[in-house]
Amino acid sequence: MLDWEQLNSVCSNCQSCELGRTRTNVVIGRGNTEAPILFVGEGPGENEDVQGLPFVGAAGQLLDTLLDALMFKPHEYYIANVVKCRPPNNRVPLEEEAEKCLPYLRNQVALIRPQIIVCLGSTAARYVIARDAKITQIRGQWIERKGYWIMPAFHPAALLRDQSKKALLFSDIKAVRDKLLSITGKED
Ligand code: URA
Repeated sequence: MLDWEQLNSVCSNCQSCELGRTRTNVVIGRGNTEAPILFVGEGPGENEDVQGLPFVGAAGQLLDTLLDALMFKPHEYYIANVVKCRPPNNRVPLEEEAEKCLPYLRNQVALIRPQIIVCLGSTAARYVIARDAKITQIRGQWIERKGYWIMPAFHPAALLRDQSKKALLFSDIKAVRDKLLSITGKED
């Protein structure tokens, strides 16, 4: 297992897949590295690629709004993605790209040791939960695995296309807040 410094350096120099050729920046993560909650998205988009930070574009603003509305505090979460480099034209990462990148996410999980992992969207659900996971079928249902509570939820970008998913994402993230409260026994 790599420590954070080693992980940053290995990821920054990574050329294990084709995405390494076209990225501007490697996007490793943001937030508290000792947080109780880890949010996992799909991969960096254009803004993320430029800034080197996850969820800073339109989907990220939606996520931030949701987290603020549900009174999450910045120290309570860390945000990362399945792939650390932007897929061209924001396409879904190829299986081999995700497979090459997954050890980095696993390393992040091992370092953070969150109590809760939230899979945002089908790519995160596929690579964190099961390759055949269907987000529409499993969202909102807790999965307990290897000592982690895992919550699959819609990706915030899906709301930009379909407003009817908003209430479901809100209730799934509210369930995360409630679970955190029940685990820690306090708000903060
Ligand atoms: N969508 C993702 O899945 N991750 C990001 O970092 C930004 C948008």
